[in-house]
Amino acid sequence: MYNEQQTKELITLTQKLKTELVLDDVETHINNLKKIINFHDWRYYVLAEPIITDYDYDLLFKQLKDLEEANPQFKTPDSPSQRVAFALTKEFPTVPHIAPMLSLGNSYNSDDLKDFDKSIKKLVDSENIVYTVEPKFDGTGISLVYENDQLIRAATRGDGVSGEEITNNAKVLKSIPLSGAFQEEGIQKIEIRGEVLIRKETFEKMNQARQAANEKLFANARNTAAGAMRMQDSGEVAKRGLEAFVYYVGYAVDGQDKTVLRKQLTSHHQTLELLYKLGFKAPMNEITVCQNIEEAIQACKDWEAKRDDYPYEIDGMVVKVNSLDQQEMCGYTAHHPRWAIAYKFKAKEATTKLLNVEFQVGRTGAITPVAKLEPVHLAGVTVSSISIHNEEYIQEKDIHIGDMVVIERSGDVIPQIVRVIPDARTGEETPVIFPKNCPDCATDLYRPEGEAAWRCVNQKCPSQLVERLIHYVSRDAMDIEGLGKSQVKRFYDLGYLTGIPSIYDLPYDELKGLEGLGERSVIKLETAIVKSTEQPIARLLYALGIRHVGKGTAKRLTKKLANLEDLKNWTIEELEAIEDIGPIVAKSVHDYFHDADNIATLQLLKEAGINMTQDLAEAAPSSNVLADKTFLFTGSLQEFSRNEAKAMVEDNGGKVISGVSKKLNYLVVGANAGSKLKKAQDLGTVEILTETEFLEMIGK
Ligand code: IVH
Repeated sequence: MYNEQQTKELITLTQKLKTELVLDDVETHINNLKKIINFHDWRYYVLAEPIITDYDYDLLFKQLKDLEEANPQFKTPDSPSQRVAFALTKEFPTVPHIAPMLSLGNSYNSDDLKDFDKSIKKLVDSENIVYTVEPKFDGTGISLVYENDQLIRAATRGDGVSGEEITNNAKVLKSIPLSGAFQEEGIQKIEIRGEVLIRKETFEKMNQARQAANEKLFANARNTAAGAMRMQDSGEVAKRGLEAFVYYVGYAVDGQDKTVLRKQLTSHHQTLELLYKLGFKAPMNEITVCQNIEEAIQACKDWEAKRDDYPYEIDGMVVKVNSLDQQEMCGYTAHHPRWAIAYKFKAKEATTKLLNVEFQVGRTGAITPVAKLEPVHLAGVTVSSISIHNEEYIQEKDIHIGDMVVIERSGDVIPQIVRVIPDARTGEETPVIFPKNCPDCATDLYRPEGEAAWRCVNQKCPSQLVERLIHYVSRDAMDIEGLGKSQVKRFYDLGYLTGIPSIYDLPYDELKGLEGLGERSVIKLETAIVKSTEQPIARLLYALGIRHVGKGTAKRLTKKLANLEDLKNWTIEELEAIEDIGPIVAKSVHDYFHDADNIATLQLLKEAGINMTQDLAEAAPSSNVLADKTFLFTGSLQEFSRNEAKAMVEDNGGKVISGVSKKLNYLVVGANAGSKLKKAQDLGTVEILTETEFLEMIGK
C-alpha cells in the first residue's frame, strides 16, 4: 500500500508534526496529520507492525481532533477522526461484525478521568455512577460469535466494521470455549469481544528458544500475538502459547431475536461473571467495582504501580460505567463508546531520532559512546541522551547516526535503545565511528583482551580526573554536599581541584569571591568537607574509584580490616580468600594498592586527616540472628525503603539476593506483591513474611 519512498516521507513528517507546533497553515497541517494517521493506522492494523508508540499516535490523533474542532471548515468525512480504522489484508475471508468493534477514548491522568466522570453524570443525568476498572490488555482484539451454544465464528478486529474470519485459529486457543451453555441463560446468539495475548514469561521463553536456534527474535508480545492469529496453519498457532481474555458483549439475543442486554444482563460486572461462569477467561481477579470516580482513579494508580508484576502486558486500565442501562444512555461516537475510557499508563517505549554519538571518558578510563537523541517523553521523563555501552553493542544493534530508534524504560531502569527501525532509513544515515584516541587527552586507546570497552590508560587524563572527583564526592561515596558535578568541573577548570587530596586543600577565602558562592555557601561547603573526613573506611574505599570495587565489594573488603592502609600489604591470594571476592576484584585492588601514585594519594589523604581506621567490634554486624539466611523484598514496602531493608539484613548477618530460587529463605512482601510472591508460593520452600514479621525477626 505504501512504498519505501512514501514510508520514509511519512516518517519524516511524523517527526515534524510530533512537536505539536503548527508550522504550516492550519489546513496543510490538518491534511498532513490525516495523511500520517492513515499511514500509522495501516502499519498498525494491516501490517501489525507499528513504528510509533501508541502514546505518540494518541497525541497525533488528539492534535488532529483538537484542530478540527477549532477549525470545523477543514473537517472532512474522510478524516481518520471520523472513522474507526483501515482496510484489510486479503488472506482470510472478510466478515462483517454484528456490531462495530470500536476503539476507546484515552485519558492520561486523574484530571482527565474527573472530566470523564463529569461528562457521564451529564449524559445519564445522575450523580450515582458505579464504575468498573480492569486492565487494558495489550494484545490483539478478537470477536467470538456463539449460536445455539456453539462457537460459530471468530474474527479479528479488522477495520472495526468487518474483520478477518479466523475461526480455525481461534479454536486452537484453549482459553476460548468451543461451546457454552448460553441457552440455559436465555441467550440464543451472542457476540463476545476480547483480546488475544501471550504471557510475558511465555514470550520470553519463545525468544530464548529462537535465540538458541539462531532465529530472528520477535519484537514484542503484542505483534507476535497479532501475527500468530493470522497464520495460515492453525497447528502453528497452537504452538504460540496464546490466551484470550474476554471483556465485552457486543450483541446478545434470545430465541425471539430480542436483545437480552439490559434485561438478563444488567451490568458489566454481572456480564463478565456470567462469561466466567461459562468457562471464559474473564478478568474476574482483576476487575474492581468502584462506587465513584475517586475509587476508580485509585484503582488505576494501584495497577500502574504493580504493572510490571502482572503476568501479561497491559498498557493501561479501562474505566467503564457498570450499569448497562446507563451505558445505553451514554451511547457511542463513531470511534468509541462514551461510557468507557482507557487510562493509559506512561509510555515505556518511544521512538526518536539519533542525532549524534559522543564519546565520554569514565573515571577508570573506559570510553562510553553516548547517543544524543531528539528529546522525547518516556515514562514521565524527557530523554535526550543514552549510553550505548560499547562498540559491539553498536554493531549488534546496527546503530547509525540519523537512525530512528525505539527506546525503552521499564521500572526504574535506565533507558535503553531497544532497536533501530531500518524501514525508516533515508540513506543519509552514517555509521558510528569509534575513535582511536582519547577524545580528551588524545592518548592511544587500548582494548584489553576479553573486555568490551576501549580505555584511555593515561591516569592523568583530565576527563578521568574530573570523573574520579565527581565519584569521590558523590552521595554513596564520601557524600560531600555542595560539591556537585558542575561545582567539581568549575573548580577543576579554575585550577582549585587537581586530584582527590586537593579537595581538602581548597582556598575557602578565594572561593567566597566566586560568582554564586557567598560566604554562607562556602562555610557550608567547608563543613561538609570536614565532616567527610570521618566517613567509615568502606565508603572511603568505594570513593577511591578502584575498578570493580562497588559499594558491596568495598563493604566486604573492609569487614575485617582495622586500617585501610593494611591493604598495601595484602597479597592477591589473601584478598581472594575474603568471602565473595573473586580473582578480578582481588587483582584490581592489589594493583591499586601497589601503584606509586595511588600510595601518594593515600598518604596525602591521611595527612589531610581522613579517617583510615575502624573499630572492628563496631563494624561487625549488630547481631548474627540472620546468619546464613537469604532475603528478598518485593511489592511496595511501607515500613522501610529497599536500601534500608538491605542494610538491616546485612547488619544482622544475612544476605539479600536478587531472585526467587531454591536458594531463597525468606520473601518479605509489601503491598501489591506480584509474580515473585506467586513463584515463591509455587516453590514451597520459601518462607513468606510481612514487613512487620521481618522487623520482629530482627528484634525491632
Ligand atoms: S472495551 C465497546 N476493555 O483496547 C467496547 N477494550 O484501544 C470497547 N482492549 O479496541 C472495548 N483491553 O481491543 C475493552 N478491558 C478492555 C480492553 C479493551 C484491551 C482493547 C480493545 C479496544 C482497544 C482500544
